[in-house]
Amino acid sequence: MSKKLIKKAVIPAAGLGTRFLPATKSVPKELLPIVDMPTIQLIVEEIASSGIETVILITSKGKASIADHFDVNSDLHKKLLEDGKHELAAKLKETSEMVNVVTVRQGVPRGLGHAVLCARDLIGDEPFAVLLGDDLVDSKIPCTKQMIDVYEKYNKSVVALMEVEERDVSKFGICGGTDLEENVLELNKMIEKPAPDIAPSKLAIVGRYILEPKIFEILESTDPGTGNEIQLTDAMSKLMASDGFLGYKFKGERFDAGDKLGFVKANINFALKRPEIAPHLVEYMKKCIK
Ligand code: UTP
Repeated sequence: MSKKLIKKAVIPAAGLGTRFLPATKSVPKELLPIVDMPTIQLIVEEIASSGIETVILITSKGKASIADHFDVNSDLHKKLLEDGKHELAAKLKETSEMVNVVTVRQGVPRGLGHAVLCARDLIGDEPFAVLLGDDLVDSKIPCTKQMIDVYEKYNKSVVALMEVEERDVSKFGICGGTDLEENVLELNKMIEKPAPDIAPSKLAIVGRYILEPKIFEILESTDPGTGNEIQLTDAMSKLMASDGFLGYKFKGERFDAGDKLGFVKANINFALKRPEIAPHLVEYMKKCIK
């Protein structure tokens, strides 16, 4: 059987971002900076370095500036060159050239499952990646690349998993399954936000998926679930029952940049990797915790 390559990635970024109000009243959370990089740029860099060339951005009212970020701003480029800021000009141009960005609007925020369904016509009959617009993974090998390798080995949909504390299981989709090899599980359960006493494990779904296109026909017939939203986890659970589904414990650290504490942690993590900032930040933090 010929290998089905992952050529497209979907970034659902149409959510309301209510956990981050008032900052997100008029600025999309996906553009809030991690040091000086918008969250979404770090996600698009992960996509590009995983070998994917097309990004389908799901946006909504008030979020057009996310797509603008990936356009070339000719006036700005010219001004930076005139001012002798060649390195910065080149960096901004590189951002625009990383991938092709196509946008689709989700008219009403009917849930993550519905946001993914909005990409159906642009994906067609191919497997594809999904990366949530507020989930960051810092890793040596891009998380999406790690998952593509698992997909290509087994030819089955894959979801990224991370172990969480027992008290936190009711905040996530939780999976159960049996080990296939180190870090890869054949899944037999997926439950959205279970109470701790019915959670099948402490393995939580995080915002990275490789999905077979069959997910679209399942999503189309999936009724709204938790929070009256069309839940991606419900559709994935049906795909698991018919075609099988893998869980992959990725190597790296994940940050929920759509959550206040997660956002601050992401900023500290990425700032500590910047030589021009790190020593000053460490010194400052030492002073703060005295
Ligand atoms: P979240 O629940 O984390 O995002 O959805 P949210 O709804 O923006 O955030 P809060 O809870 O109100 O603060 C996970 C991902 O799914 C996208 C979001 O943009 C986020 O990337 N999403 C969610 C959509 O694209 N459409 C939706 O209808 C819901």
